[in-house]
This record gives sequence, C-alpha cells and structure tokens, in this order.
Amino acid sequence: MDVTDLRSVKQAAAQIGDGAVDLLINSAGIAGKRTRKLGMSITNPGRRFSTLTPWGRCGSLKPSLITSPSERKLAVTITSGMGSLTGNTSGGSIAYRSSKAAVNMVMRSAAIDFAPRGVACVLINPGWVKTDMGGPGASLTRRKV
Ligand SMILES: NC(=O)c1ccc[n+]([C@@H]2O[C@H](COP(=O)([O-])OP(=O)(O)OC[C@H]3O[C@@H](n4cnc5c(N)ncnc54)[C@H](OP(=O)(O)O)[C@@H]3O)[C@@H](O)[C@H]2O)c1
Repeated sequence: MDVTDLRSVKQAAAQIGDGAVDLLINSAGIAGKRTRKLGMSITNPGRRFSTLTPWGRCGSLKPSLITSPSERKLAVTITSGMGSLTGNTSGGSIAYRSSKAAVNMVMRSAAIDFAPRGVACVLINPGWVKTDMGGPGASLTRRKV
C-alpha cells in the first residue's frame, strides 16, 4: 500500500477482510535531501511528514490487529536517531527529524491506548544501515533473516 494514500490503505485492509494481522510493521519512510530548509508547511506537510502517519492512516487495519487470536500482537514502527531531541547536535533535515519525533509520540500514545486491547506498540531504531536511504557509507549492512 501507499501509506500516504488513504484509498490505498483501505484497499489493503479490504483484501485482508476478516483475516487477522498479528504483526504490523510501519517501515515506510523518505528522508530526501539533507537540507537545512524546513521543506514543509503547516498546510502542506509534504510526503516525508505524511509517511509518519502509518499508524493513523492504518486505522482500517487496527480491527484486524485487535481481533487477532495471536497471544503476541505487535505493531512496530521503524524510527530513527534523527528523531531524538537530545541527540540532535548537528541540525538540518528538519522535516525528516520532525516526522520521526512525531511518530515516536504517536507510538508512545498508541502503546498506552492499545495495551488494554493486547496490542504491544514498539519503536525500533535500526541504526545507520546501507539501504537506498542510508547510502553506501552507512556502518551497518542489511542481513536476510
Ligand atoms: N537506512 C538507515 O540508515 C535508517 C536509519 C534510521 C531509520 N531508518 C528508517 O528505516 C525505514 C526503512 O528505510 P530504508 O533505510 O529501508 O530506506 P529505503 O531503502 O529508502 O526504503 C524506504 C522504503 O519505504 C517505502 N516507502 C516510502 N514511501 C512509502 C509510502 N508512501 N508508502 C509505502 N511505502 C513507502 C519504500 O517503498 P518503495 O520501494 O516501494 O518506494 C521503501 O521500501 C524508514 O522508516 C527509515 O526512516 C533508516
């Protein structure tokens, strides 16, 4: 699905239908250029920022997660050290940093709100990984598991 397109998310949920979702991984993200310009406005937050909303946009998938018979229901969002307030000592990448700081808060609240429904919501910071986003200079290599 395209997480920035509500129709696309709804289509994916429709395909699952009454099926259960045990594990939801929100990995979508775009960083763009490491600019020092804000690159977004309040009225047009831009694509970087809208990829932060997988949890919000995936509302259509929540029932499948909540009603799953699994004893280990898990919603995982891939965050970044770039979203850390105290870790930001170099500036720049304002839209990307802001999107990750915001998604940290989204998942923090979701963790509290969905705990009574048996869904654990966690954030994972993968470190600097050699991907299209991380680039060839990154310190970690992807492993197939
Ligand atoms: N690499 C790093 O060093 C690093 C560090 C910290 C955090 N992260 C985070 O890790 C996650 C994965 O990044 P990556 O390094 O694997 O980057 P990547 O190689 O650029 O991959 C980004 C992924 O996000 C998907 N995506 C982008 N926009 C989307 C949308 N609107 N709807 C659905 N999928 C969308 C892309 O799908 P398509 O290929 O179909 O476009 C692609 O699979 C991101 O959240 C990123 O912020 C990465």
